[in-house]
Amino acid sequence: MHYVFDQLREQASAALVATGLIAPEQLALAEPKNRDLADLACPIFAAAKAAGEAPPAFSQKLAAAVRLPEAGLLAKVEAAGGFVNFTVRPEALAAAVLAEVTERGDAFGKDSSVGAGEKVIVEYSSPNIARKMHVGHLRSTVIGHSLRLIFEALGYDVIADNHLGDWGTQFGMLLAAIDLWKLTPWDDPDPVQSLVVLYAKYNSEAKEDESLKDLARAWFKKLEDGDVWARETWQKLIDITMAEFSRTYDRLGVSFTTQHGESYFESRMPAVMAEAVEKGVARRDAGGALVVEFDDKLPSCLLQKSDGGTLYQTRDAATCLYRLENYAPARNIYVVGAEQKLHFQQVFEIVRRMGYEKIADVSIHISFGKVSPPNGGRFSMREGNVVFLNDVLDEAVERAEAAMRANVAAGRSELTEEEIPEIAETLGIGAVVYADLFQGPDRNITFDWDKMLQSEGNTAMYLQYAHARCRSILRKASPLAPPSDGGGGGLLVHPAEQALLKQLARMPHAVREAGEKYLPASVADWTFQLAKAFSTFWENCPVLRDDVAPEMRTARLELVAATAQGLKNGLALLGIKAPERV
Ligand code: ARG
Repeated sequence: MHYVFDQLREQASAALVATGLIAPEQLALAEPKNRDLADLACPIFAAAKAAGEAPPAFSQKLAAAVRLPEAGLLAKVEAAGGFVNFTVRPEALAAAVLAEVTERGDAFGKDSSVGAGEKVIVEYSSPNIARKMHVGHLRSTVIGHSLRLIFEALGYDVIADNHLGDWGTQFGMLLAAIDLWKLTPWDDPDPVQSLVVLYAKYNSEAKEDESLKDLARAWFKKLEDGDVWARETWQKLIDITMAEFSRTYDRLGVSFTTQHGESYFESRMPAVMAEAVEKGVARRDAGGALVVEFDDKLPSCLLQKSDGGTLYQTRDAATCLYRLENYAPARNIYVVGAEQKLHFQQVFEIVRRMGYEKIADVSIHISFGKVSPPNGGRFSMREGNVVFLNDVLDEAVERAEAAMRANVAAGRSELTEEEIPEIAETLGIGAVVYADLFQGPDRNITFDWDKMLQSEGNTAMYLQYAHARCRSILRKASPLAPPSDGGGGGLLVHPAEQALLKQLARMPHAVREAGEKYLPASVADWTFQLAKAFSTFWENCPVLRDDVAPEMRTARLELVAATAQGLKNGLALLGIKAPERV
């Protein structure tokens, strides 16, 4: 896709290279810090040095030699110390940006040439069966889902994988408890909660009574060996848990292309362990356990316990090899909390030592910090330190709803009573998602409800309100103005209009950067800057006022429509909806 963003750089590069004074590899065009001075700056220090000239003199000479085409996007070239600066032609820029946004619509900002069909695996969410999702899973879900959308926008073929924790000795305990105490937790009103309680109960009783531990081990063995009741019961546990998880995913608008839980890789374990031994990566110790030692680089770990059981590392190593075999991805991304850093270092190193650099080199752990409970708020009260994801979402929606009712009561919103619940859901969930994404994942998060749900500042609501305001302007205008076709750009030369247009033009760059850095925050920041530029425009450039000439009104309405499209597309890449009305 040939975006205005790229055309600007190509036109400046071509003009510079045509002087014969600077080589293509010496070009490093970028936006200057102070955007009031110029739109693009090219540092010329290296070229000046190569020519044996002082930078200021060389940049003078270079700028004087540059010829800009009459009909191009660039109007002016100037020397400035060690830089050559370029300034856009406002009318041309405006027309080009409006045409681009109008033409591309929902695809505006996406650049499928980057990934060109290469495969990327993004593994996210990955909660554990028979457990509740907690806020750590929320972070993984939200960050991973946005990365998936960003990589799709960049033209990658994305495998969105939910690596469910559906295997391990805890299932032996649950099966033992269900059998021993003759229970049917699937009939309970909150079945997953019943499983959580049941597991805790069995676990604590097993601490007193060794025989319960043996029983659990025996049940896990039966499960591994394919005992019919064990398998069927285990499947029921998966089904009831997934029913609950699905409701949460639906609320968040999250989906997956693949859901291969840990159990899926179970049958591959013996071969992986044998290969690790054969290649000298793991060795049997005196007690019969399979040990991997990493010199002093990393602490050693096990691939098999002395009782024959496999470990989390074994399952992940097997998963890596499976992915190499089946997808040969360009990237293999894990969105998992920072506390599992060592685990992934070990897994990637094991796979590398086994000779599979091809997957080790492209495997990346995108780790994120912790979520602290807020001061006050309901969900901080539940069971110790664990914060459940559904409680967070419920509270966010309740608070959004209260804020909206206050707006309606104060005459600041046109919503009707019936519209409120659905839009409150969108705004409440958007607030939680955005609060996670607008800063880098490595940051720890505290839920600050008041800050998160503000309609001013760097929040989802601010962006959603800006979008709804644009849409409302367009609705009000439709009887006044002919439908826009993206052709009125030439009039938009006011500095506030130009700033807004230039911010729109940067979207493809923000999306590419988000993919390179695995950072949805790049898109969030772009969207926030767009909303801010829009509010400056709105304060300075009347649109619907009677004294605005019809052609000007049409041009400004086109800009408003393009802004709405940009806000919607930016939010969409974060997994956030932009309602028409708020
Ligand atoms: N199920 C694990 C948990 O809830 C996360 C799994 C992460 N993914 C992986 N391939 N190990 O902590």
